[in-house]
Amino acid sequence: MKPLILLAALASVVLAASYDKKGVAVATDKLYVKECGSCHFAYQPGLLPSNSWQKMMSNLENHFGSDASLAKEDFDYISKYLNKNSAEKFMNYKRSSRVVNSLREGEIPDSISKTPYMIEKHKDIRENLITQEEVKGIFNCTACHTTVQKGIYSERDIMIPNYGRWED
Ligand code: HEC
Ligand code: HEC
Repeated sequence: MKPLILLAALASVVLAASYDKKGVAVATDKLYVKECGSCHFAYQPGLLPSNSWQKMMSNLENHFGSDASLAKEDFDYISKYLNKNSAEKFMNYKRSSRVVNSLREGEIPDSISKTPYMIEKHKDIRENLITQEEVKGIFNCTACHTTVQKGIYSERDIMIPNYGRWED
């Protein structure tokens, strides 16, 4: 192979392995936001791989202690939507690519906060800041990340209740 062609081939491999968009794709689907954003904010589909969404959807009657079951038509629609917009389909977004790349072979996490990427990112936060009334748990992304609605989870946009801005 000529050196120039080799270089181009290499560059395309490097590009394919990286992201070009920050954050995660925003959830815009009306039915999804209505049905899956009534008890908590509508988590972006790009924060979990499709097999995790499938697992969650297969047990909506017992969804983290709540009954989140849907009418058949809505169930089919939302299942399809989640599958189409799951993390591995949006590897060009930084957060989706980080979530997917953190998974061990065959791992199907039960929730976003149980993915290795999220566990690693939140391990230095004092326990009482997480369990406090205003937060309750890592699942409550909007309690600390002020720009969640834009799909942005940057460190400079974090404000923890009874603590303030995050500084390392
Ligand atoms: C009846 C209320 C209710 C509805 C409706 C509901 N959820 Fe939940 N969901 C919960 C509860 C309760 C939890 C546990 C955390 C909490 O208390 O917010 C949870 C947690 C989650 C988590 C895990 C967050 C984490 O820790 O990573 C995801 C993802 C999720 N829900 C997705 C969905 C999807 C998708 C739908 C729509 C099919 C949905 N939820 C509808 C109540 C609900
Ligand atoms: C108790 C407050 C709190 C909650 C709740 C929380 N986070 Fe975070 N998150 C943080 C802090 C603080 C950091 C920065 C940690 C560090 O860098 O040491 C962080 C980091 C992150 C990062 C990496 C940011 C970066 O620039 O590297 C992502 C992505 C993220 N959180 C997503 C989420 C998601 C998704 C949820 C909900 C499932 C969530 N967080 C819930 C406080 C929180």
